Amino acid sequence: MAKFRTRARTLDMLGRQQIAGIPTAISELFKNAHDAYADHVEIDYYRSDGLFLLRDDGVGMSQEDFTTRWLTLGTESKFDLKRKPPRDLSKTKRPMLGEKGIGRLAIATIGPQVLVLTRAKSENGASDLTVAFINWSIFELPGVDLDEIDIPIRTFSSGSIPSAQDVADMVHEFRVNAKNIGNRIEKNWLNKIEEELDRFIVDPQEIDLYNRKLSLKGKCHGTHFIIKPANQLLMDDIDGDNTKGKGSRVGKATPLKKALLGFSDTMNPASKNLIKTSFRDHKKEQLEVELIAEDDFFNHDEFLRADHRFSGDFDN
Ligand SMILES: Nc1ncnc2c1ncn2[C@@H]1O[C@H](COP(=O)(O)OP(=O)(O)OP(=O)(O)O)[C@@H](O)[C@H]1O
Ligand SMILES: [Mg+2]
Repeated sequence: MAKFRTRARTLDMLGRQQIAGIPTAISELFKNAHDAYADHVEIDYYRSDGLFLLRDDGVGMSQEDFTTRWLTLGTESKFDLKRKPPRDLSKTKRPMLGEKGIGRLAIATIGPQVLVLTRAKSENGASDLTVAFINWSIFELPGVDLDEIDIPIRTFSSGSIPSAQDVADMVHEFRVNAKNIGNRIEKNWLNKIEEELDRFIVDPQEIDLYNRKLSLKGKCHGTHFIIKPANQLLMDDIDGDNTKGKGSRVGKATPLKKALLGFSDTMNPASKNLIKTSFRDHKKEQLEVELIAEDDFFNHDEFLRADHRFSGDFDN
């Protein structure tokens, strides 16, 4: 008898390599926030230091959910009735957008390393916060098996947020494991990873103060991703081709707008928007631009003026 073994590269191929680009990766994360019954999913991108934050206020994940769902490849969402994703019973049932169980791996396209912070919504509003650090570049190394890679994961008691030192400790843990793997294969591979790890200086307690609506303190819940440094290509996706019709509807929409505008219905006033999306591009210290504002997409008047309209229902 024999078994299939899984190389670490598989994860890189399922995520970073098969996704069309950063806008598509973001839309995968928006879909996950929708499936987690979030009211808001918001991005803040700080160009000055390449910090990229994506935060939702959905049902979040307990540590068990995190290991059995987020850290498990091919998570079954639709097909296994016993392992259905958590639902927020206080809200109208949403049709689930998740299907394959690999969408979140696309996050590796946005930047090479991420701190995930997630707190599950619970009856008494006081579940622990689960935090994990992942550097995705390690999944590009040849000759490494998936189960050789350790993911530092910690829990913080209800209401508390990790400090910059906690993050540094997790990054250190990751570094020790990466060095052991690197020494076994070829040391050169390690340099890139070490440089990235050096750049991951992040203080979640300070970041939590940036946006009180999307905090993880107290009784708040949801899932936050802190990515640093964001991929340089993100700037091109945002700026697009600036030579034509800048900012106007007749001009060419940037790849980012094409992928993310209209995530929720802006054309039908009767439809209650299930989730509000936002992408704030902090170009400079005092200059913040909203990239996917609702009125940038087709509104109700424009919908009424359209030449053709279809009406109907969707079955299963
Ligand atoms: N923002 C989030 N909040 C809560 N749970 C999440 C979040 N993102 C992912 N998850 C959990 O992780 C699982 C895996 O997500 P992933 O996007 O990889 O797969 P999926 O959404 O089930 O399917 P697809 O590959 O079609 O997107 C989800 O089913 C969900 O249980
Ligand atoms: Mg998904």
